[in-house]
Amino acid sequence: MDLATFEQLLSPAGQVLLVEVAERAGIESDLGLGTRLRKAHDAELVAAAVTQNHLRSKARSKFGEAAALMYFTHDALEQSTRAVVSDHRAHRLVSAGETAVVDLGCGIGGDLIAFARAGMKVRGVELGPVRAAIARANLDALGLTGTVLCADATAVSVASDEVAFVDPARRDGKGRIFDPTDCVPPWDFVTALLAGRGLAKTMPGIDHRLVPAGVEAEWVSVDGNLVEACLWGEPYASAHRRATLLPSRESLTDADAGQAHVAAPAAFLYEPDDAVIRSGLVTAVAAEVDGWLIDPKIAWVSSAAHVATPYARAFRVIDELPFRQKPLKAALVALDIGTLTIKKRGVDVVPDVLIKRLKLKGSVTGTIVMTRVRNEGRAFLVEPL
Ligand SMILES: C[S@@+](CC[C@H](N)C(=O)[O-])C[C@H]1O[C@@H](n2cnc3c(N)ncnc32)[C@H](O)[C@@H]1O
Repeated sequence: MDLATFEQLLSPAGQVLLVEVAERAGIESDLGLGTRLRKAHDAELVAAAVTQNHLRSKARSKFGEAAALMYFTHDALEQSTRAVVSDHRAHRLVSAGETAVVDLGCGIGGDLIAFARAGMKVRGVELGPVRAAIARANLDALGLTGTVLCADATAVSVASDEVAFVDPARRDGKGRIFDPTDCVPPWDFVTALLAGRGLAKTMPGIDHRLVPAGVEAEWVSVDGNLVEACLWGEPYASAHRRATLLPSRESLTDADAGQAHVAAPAAFLYEPDDAVIRSGLVTAVAAEVDGWLIDPKIAWVSSAAHVATPYARAFRVIDELPFRQKPLKAALVALDIGTLTIKKRGVDVVPDVLIKRLKLKGSVTGTIVMTRVRNEGRAFLVEPL
């Protein structure tokens, strides 16, 4: 979609068309609807309206009800921050006493909207003219105030009352592996912002060694799925590393992590949340559950007690099973297990492949943990709690 088509979509005629598409989609096929509407409207505009309608329904999982009023492009929607995460970020900034933010590379405005919704004065800067226009339209559509400038963020000065936020994209726009040499705006621009009143969203796979000194790295998971790491400049850093669970906003930091000891697995095993694992705070979970690590390098915690914690999933250990395939199969057959879940860590096992090979035909479901314990493969029959 080019800028002219997007502007047409925002015009009264375009808005009427969007409503018609939304009402008729699902009743008429895309093809039938498109053919009919093209008789009265410009073909590009019809295509844009149909696409927008699809993107709005796709965007519901990120933006909830608001998605029905917003505008997207396919790629910009993929890159945008889901509301539960951007709202948390905005809440943290407001709690730190900040009132204004400039979003340096705001895309279609996922974060920008959250900052505005939290009551901050917002200014977006975006290199792409269509994205900049969409961000502006999204603020308007949601009844929020703010400005969006179509410009190169690296040439924009940050006002004295503004916090600088940046969510760099990969140069090729693809992939989840973080390579700092590959981001736009560039990584040295990002780190310069972090030296002051700045914060940056980055990929959860970021190497800890790339986090500048004095900056807090916050790994965030939503419903147990790791989604991002946010780097908080010195004025906002209250820890070196933090794991935050959303939507509950519970968080653990390196201040909670101690020197957990390593010992044999006992009655309960705990699988930490991915945000805890990526932030290197597994020992904080061990402290929470009065437990220990079962291997210095493996993210399983064990304890003699069951302590409910939001930071890890608990399993009761029922029995130890053989690790090797043949005796493991015999043990599972003896238990009448037919449907098996394998939780593996640190061992060369591909659960789906192993499950196929085991050809289990029993009538009960079971879960096993296959893990490395001091360089040895071990298997445990467990019950998820
Ligand atoms: C990951 S996206 C931002 C997504 C946004 N936080 C959201 O939630 O919708 C990064 C954006 O930065 C923009 N960008 C990259 N380099 C830029 C630059 N030098 N100046 C302005 N924008 C830039 C890209 O066009 C892209 O839209």
